[in-house]
Parts: sequence; structure tokens; C-alpha cells
Amino acid sequence: MKLAVLTSGGDSAGMNALVRAVVKTAILKGCETYVVREGYEGLVRGNNTQPSEKGTPPPKQHVTAEGSFVQNLRFGDGELLKDGTGDHPSGRTLKGRYIVRVGWDDVRGWFAAGGTLIGTARSTAFRTPEGRLTAAHNMIKEGIDALAICGGDGSLTGADVFRSEWPKLVEELRSQGKITEEQATKHAYLRIVGLVGSIDNDMSLTDLTIGAPTALHRICESIDNINSTAYSHSRAFVLEVMGRHCGWLALMAGVACGADFIFIPEDPPEAGKWEDQMCRMVQNHRDVGKRKTIVIVAEGAHDASLQPIRVDYVKDVLAERLGLDTRVTTLGHTQRGGRPCAIDRILPTLQGVEAVEALLEATPESPSYMIGISENKITRIPLMEAVEMTRQVAKAISEKDFKKAMSLRDPEFCE
Ligand code: F6P
Repeated sequence: MKLAVLTSGGDSAGMNALVRAVVKTAILKGCETYVVREGYEGLVRGNNTQPSEKGTPPPKQHVTAEGSFVQNLRFGDGELLKDGTGDHPSGRTLKGRYIVRVGWDDVRGWFAAGGTLIGTARSTAFRTPEGRLTAAHNMIKEGIDALAICGGDGSLTGADVFRSEWPKLVEELRSQGKITEEQATKHAYLRIVGLVGSIDNDMSLTDLTIGAPTALHRICESIDNINSTAYSHSRAFVLEVMGRHCGWLALMAGVACGADFIFIPEDPPEAGKWEDQMCRMVQNHRDVGKRKTIVIVAEGAHDASLQPIRVDYVKDVLAERLGLDTRVTTLGHTQRGGRPCAIDRILPTLQGVEAVEALLEATPESPSYMIGISENKITRIPLMEAVEMTRQVAKAISEKDFKKAMSLRDPEFCE
């Protein structure tokens, strides 16, 4: 099997650990391994130059830590490690090459790096049928027949569309004479597996997404910092945190840092009434001696009539009704960047191993799987079931059925 791994959509801490785990597992299982730079965009751009000589030295033997000889691990035969300097994959040396052969050494130490070293993009080209045809052509030219994709629900849906279209794309390429009969037969079906990389923790049927724990740590660190200055001045702070349409980061940060009030999309307050509720709560806390106030607003928060909760408005309410000296802090991309915490190294490592196994076991009949985690076990879930359930949450919110949204996010919520 020739396997390629790519990261897509917004970056999240742990994506590098995932790429590392997929690459190393695939090599150990005898696969040829590739990374696709810049997400789906890289598949569409393909390779316009030849690999440099330095990228393809002969396979070497290697002695493992346990002392046994491992043959053909292809140490250092990837194209990422240039001139022994470990150039960043988006470096000059790879100009015009997006589907890049990787060896064991190429991903050494990647578990500790933030963001995604192979790049990511929100590709518009891949959303078009022509773009996907070009992507299929580029993959077949490189001989790739298996794809591991790490991204959010949009990226994983794109993967499933690609897989279901694949036979049609192959037939089109064959009839246009762009690939041979032999290539068409060899690439009759595409193996794909999805891994959820997102700080938002917004995917159904898995307990955690890769990057969410680190983002939560970042938010907690920021709130700890804000706490000391808020305490000093006896101020109130209104913090906006990321999460798109999901309130997980806001809710968990609120629990971890003892926030006074939290706004999340799944449990919106009644329009026109929450101002009093919030002020009563904050005043109660002040009455028992609290010198500081923290209100957390998820970026997707709204009231029960779906009007967005604006941080500046929340600030004005606290300032005008309670006379609190209030500031707004939007944490922004500081939440997304930086080194992954331990969970965001362990989770993608375990999931990366499972992903390669799922690819090796895939048949034309088996569904595409998403690798998740549930009750501390790494799981395989039919990809489209998870994506569909995630969509139902958004639909329930847009239809103001918040109880349903909550129960879909957390099935035990309504019990
Ligand atoms: O999905 C991850 C996320 O960070 C969201 O929390 C946020 O809404 C969005 O991406 C920000 O996207 P961008 O980096 O394109 O501004």
C-alpha cells in the first residue's frame, strides 16, 4: 500500500504527532509513505518537479532501541529532510512538489511541534469536480492508493465525497487517456480514513478532537493571567473564546477557571432576561467577597432567539448596571497555536496507529472510518455517521431545539 497523509482546515496542536504516528506505523507495516503539503490544495497541485537526488538514497538497515535489525525502514529516504538540516517542509527545496515521499527520520521529534509542519489550507479547488479529478490524477501518478486525512467535519466530508466519486474519476481519467488500463485497475478503489483535528471539539461520536485539550490549556493559562490583574484592580473581564458553533471550550474553561457566567450556543439564555440573570449572579459573587469577575462568551454564543451575544454588549451591561470597571479580551489564535499538551501527543499517536490499521483492512465494501475515542478506547466510527450527527446538532440549534442539540452533543445530558 502507498499511503499519504494530509492535514486540512484550521490547524490544531497534535496534527504533527498524528502525521508522525501515521508515517512511522505505515513504514513499520511495510507501506510506502507520503505527506501531502498544504492539505487538499496540495493534492490538486501535485508534483511539477522531480524529487531531488538527496530525497531518494537506497534503503538502509537500522538497529532499533531494542537492538534488533529492522530492514527497509527507509531511514532518511524521504524528501523532507534536506541536506541533513531538517528543513521545514514548506522550504525552498520542495518547490513544486506537494506529494512528498517521507522516511522515518523526516518526522523525528514532530510530536512536540505546534500547528502542522506539512501545512494546511482551505482549498476551493478541491471543492470542484475538476479539482478532484486533478487530485485523483496526481495521486495515481504517484501510485498512492490510501489517504489519511486529519481535519474538521468539512475536511472529512470532502474525503468521503472524494472516495465515493473515485471510481467515476478513475474511469474519466482512463477514457481521457491520462492513465493506463493497468493504473485504472490498480487504483479501482480508494482507501480513506479520517482523524478529527480541531480545537473546537465539535465532532459527534467521539469524546475528544485532536487539539482541543491544548486549546483548553491555552485558555486556562490566559484566564489565570487575567485573574491576577483582574483581582488587583477588582475588575470584570469578558472573554471571547473560539469554538465556532460549539461551546465545549467555553464551558470547560469556565469549569476549570471558576468563571462567574458562561455563554454557549447549545444552552442559550432567554432573550432580554439574561442581563438580569447575569448581573444577579455576578453581584452575588461580589457580595460574598469576590474581587474579580470572569464572564466567558463562546464565539458562537447567541440567545434563545438566536441573536448573537456580543462581548462589548456584555461589558456595557456589567459596567452600566453593576458599575464594574470592565474590560474585553478576545483570545483569538493564541488558543490555537503552540506546543501540544501530553493528551494531544498521546491521542494522535494512538489514533495514527489505528488509522493505518483501518486503511490496511479497508475493502471496497467497508465504510470509510473516522478514528475517535470513546470511554478511553480508540474507536472506528463510520465517518458519515459522525458527520451527519454533527450536522444535526447545528440543525437543532438553528431550529431552536436546544435540548436536542445538547442531547446530540452529549447523549447522557438528557437522561
Ligand atoms: O475551527 C477552528 C477555529 O479556530 C474556530 O474555533 C474559529 O472559529 C475558526 O477556526 C477561525 O478560523 P480562521 O483561522 O480561518 O480565522
